[in-house]
Amino acid sequence: MEKAWWKEAVVYQIYPRSFMDSNGDGIGDLNGITSRLDYLRDLGIDVIWLSPVYKSPNDDNGYDISDYQDIMDEFGTMEDFDRMLDEIHKRGMKLVMDLVVNHTSDEHPWFVESRKSKDNPYRDYYIWREGKDGKEPNNWGSCFSGSAWKYDEATDMYFLHLFSTKQPDLNWDNPKVRSEVFSMMNWWCQKGIDGFRMDVISLISKKPGLPEGKMAPGALYGDPGCANGPHVHEYLQEMNREVMSNYDVMTVGECAGVTIEEAKKYASLDGKELNMVFQFEHVGLDDGEFGKWTDRRVKLTDLKRVMSAWQNELEGKAWNSLFFGNHDQPRSVSRFGNDSLQYRERSAKMLATCLHMMQGTPYVYQGEELGMTNVPFKSLDELRDIESINAFHELTGAGKITPEDMMRYICLRGRDNARTPMQWDDSENAGFTDGTPWIMVNPNYCTINAKAEQQDPDSVFHYYQKLISLRKKKEIMVYGSYALLEAEDEDLYIYTRTLGEEKLLVICNFTENERTYEIPAEFSDAEILISNYPDADHSGRIRAYEAIVFDKM
Ligand code: GLC
Ligand code: CA
Repeated sequence: MEKAWWKEAVVYQIYPRSFMDSNGDGIGDLNGITSRLDYLRDLGIDVIWLSPVYKSPNDDNGYDISDYQDIMDEFGTMEDFDRMLDEIHKRGMKLVMDLVVNHTSDEHPWFVESRKSKDNPYRDYYIWREGKDGKEPNNWGSCFSGSAWKYDEATDMYFLHLFSTKQPDLNWDNPKVRSEVFSMMNWWCQKGIDGFRMDVISLISKKPGLPEGKMAPGALYGDPGCANGPHVHEYLQEMNREVMSNYDVMTVGECAGVTIEEAKKYASLDGKELNMVFQFEHVGLDDGEFGKWTDRRVKLTDLKRVMSAWQNELEGKAWNSLFFGNHDQPRSVSRFGNDSLQYRERSAKMLATCLHMMQGTPYVYQGEELGMTNVPFKSLDELRDIESINAFHELTGAGKITPEDMMRYICLRGRDNARTPMQWDDSENAGFTDGTPWIMVNPNYCTINAKAEQQDPDSVFHYYQKLISLRKKKEIMVYGSYALLEAEDEDLYIYTRTLGEEKLLVICNFTENERTYEIPAEFSDAEILISNYPDADHSGRIRAYEAIVFDKM
């Protein structure tokens, strides 16, 4: 397989609002990030993916951009950015920026112009339609509740917003939109950034005629079905020619609704589009009747089936991104592991082992390397996330879910779980800010924090550090091919990786049940590469949340 730096890298995602506040206003900022770069270097990561830091009215925490070539006031200035980039590069790390171009903010000058009149030169930058019988042009629902259409008085028409009403969708069928986006991307590349994470890039090409969406049973709106639209590959190939092909940058597409077949096109190893995609099949397996708002937990056999399908089918054709958490997902240890006092650390290490030993580029979401957990939110006013707040009102208002259940589901699945401040130490506000944090700090920061973990050689932090450094020594972790064993086992996730003569056997116990597993004879004298138990052995006894990796040369 062809080698590439972005296949060998480990990426760390920073959610800037919650990472580190440098000036006491309670909001994380660029100078805060710069002040903590040594921490990331010590962890050993190669690439930082920065969630959006551009000018934004913050209806969706920066995913609603009003100026792509300027920095959000609360985060600092362009000089702060340049200094941060420089300091990242000085430490041998790279920076990947979030590219949010399915939509802009409604305060972006393009949209301000667009809504003025039907013949405004920017009218066609967005998707405008006449109402139908005095109602929305079609039945599409927004990802953030309500209709995907908003009526605009100025011209008596509706505009499309797949996300909030302050995030109007750009019209990618307009060549002027594409060329504006490409030139903005080139501007950032010339500044010296090292790549892009492309926000909901699978949604940019809408079906001609915008046909009515399918109604799921009990749903209030139709599904826009915009994923993998008719021209999406053509537009990404154009983007690749106009931008990416001119630089040594890495790209990862956030591809809601992507299938394996589609991913082979987006992330094809021939390099015509993107380097890799984020797929969401494995984080949708625990969805229920009302989508993510449920208390279901995933069955291990389902998780193994889906992860393995992506591993096997992209092999030699495209490249995987590996993640269990990000700023839109609950904390991985709470969701897939066990965040009780007894098992939190053990299960966080087990999950890390399971993920980092697979084929693909691993992503660590800020705080995941500490085993940070979900948050015991008590009431709606403690929440900040527009998705959770809107869903609460919509689903409880329609009588579909009681307020008590909905609050419980939000504590299990809501996005704010991942957005509380990074826990640096046990001082007030977890060392994140001297002021009042924009969102509450998880009350467990006195026990779970970076300072304590850096001092403890057996911490989750040091386990991540070891996994990341192993990847630098062990080509097999990057390039080896994957094979699942024991597909039907509900407790153990067991797989091998193979590269030439070398073979890894990875065993992860996703439960507290002690199990036995007969270690295959070929591993009887294999070295133990890493384990989350200090006395792991070849006996085949697999304890609660144990992870063990055998390496046969
Ligand atoms: C992506 C982002 C999410 C955001 C949405 C709209 O899914 O990850 O945080 O709300 O796009 O931009
Ligand atoms: Ca600040």
